[in-house]
Amino acid sequence: MNSYIDIHNHILPEIDEDGPPDLGGSLMLARALVKQGFDTVIATPHSFEGNPPVETILGAGRLLTAALEEQRIPLQVLPGAETVLEPQLLERVKQGQVLTLNRSPYLLVELPLFQELPPYTGELLFKLKAHGYEPVLAHPERVRVFQKDPDALAALVARGVFLQLTLSSLTGLMGRAIERTSWQLLTRGLVHFLATDAHSAGRRLARTAPALRRLKRTFGQGYVDTLLRENPLRLLRGEEVCLTEPAPARPGRLKAGPTVYLKTEATQWKKNWIY
Ligand SMILES: [Fe+2]
Repeated sequence: MNSYIDIHNHILPEIDEDGPPDLGGSLMLARALVKQGFDTVIATPHSFEGNPPVETILGAGRLLTAALEEQRIPLQVLPGAETVLEPQLLERVKQGQVLTLNRSPYLLVELPLFQELPPYTGELLFKLKAHGYEPVLAHPERVRVFQKDPDALAALVARGVFLQLTLSSLTGLMGRAIERTSWQLLTRGLVHFLATDAHSAGRRLARTAPALRRLKRTFGQGYVDTLLRENPLRLLRGEEVCLTEPAPARPGRLKAGPTVYLKTEATQWKKNWIY
C-alpha cells in the first residue's frame, strides 16, 4: 500500500463554496483519499486577503480530525491554505493572517487561470522568498499564460519557485492544452509536487488512479514516489526540496537530462503537526 501525501486539497467541511458542504462530505472525501493511497493531506481552503480567518480554518480542521478518529479513518489532516497572490500577501503571511503549508516556510499560491498575470507577480514571489517563504504555485499547468509560454515558468523555477501539478490534469479531464502542458513540464523536470486538488470524492479524485498508472508507465514508480511522498514529506518538515529530472521508465522514450538541484532556505519551520 502506498502512503502518499496530498499537499493541495479542499477537504474541510463548510469552508470552501465548492468544497464539502458538511462533515459527511468531508468524510466521504477522506475515505476516497485513503482508497487512492493517501495517508496525509494538507487542507488548503481558498484564501483571499486573509479570509477565511486562520482560526476558522483551524477549527474546521479540529472538527474533521476528531471525526476521522471517531470513524477510524486513517488519514492525518494538517493545516494550510491556497492563497491568491495579492499585493498585501507578504504582510498578511508575516502577521499570521494566512496559513503556510503545515506551518512550514512553503506557501501555496494561486495565480489567475485565464487573465494576464498581475504586473507584480515575479517581484512579489521573489520578495516572499527574500523573507524566508517558499512559494509553491498551485496547478500552473492551468494558467493560460504558462500554457502559451512554458519558458516563463521555467524561469521562475530556476529562481526557486516551486510547482505543484494536479493529478487529474495529466489525464485530459481539464482539457487538452492542460494535459499537454502538464506532460511538457514533467518531461522537462520542472515539477516538484503532485496533488489531487480534490473538492469532493467525485470526478477529479476518480482520475487519480489513471493518472498514477500513466505516470508510472512513463517515469517509473520511483518518480511517482518523489512527487507524492518524498518531496511532500520534506515540505511538511520544512526541509529543502530537490528538483529531480525524471528518467524514462523505458529507455529511449524520453531524452534524459541532467539532474538539477535547487536550494531553499527552510529555516523558519516550527514543529506543529496538527491543529
Ligand atoms: Fe485548489
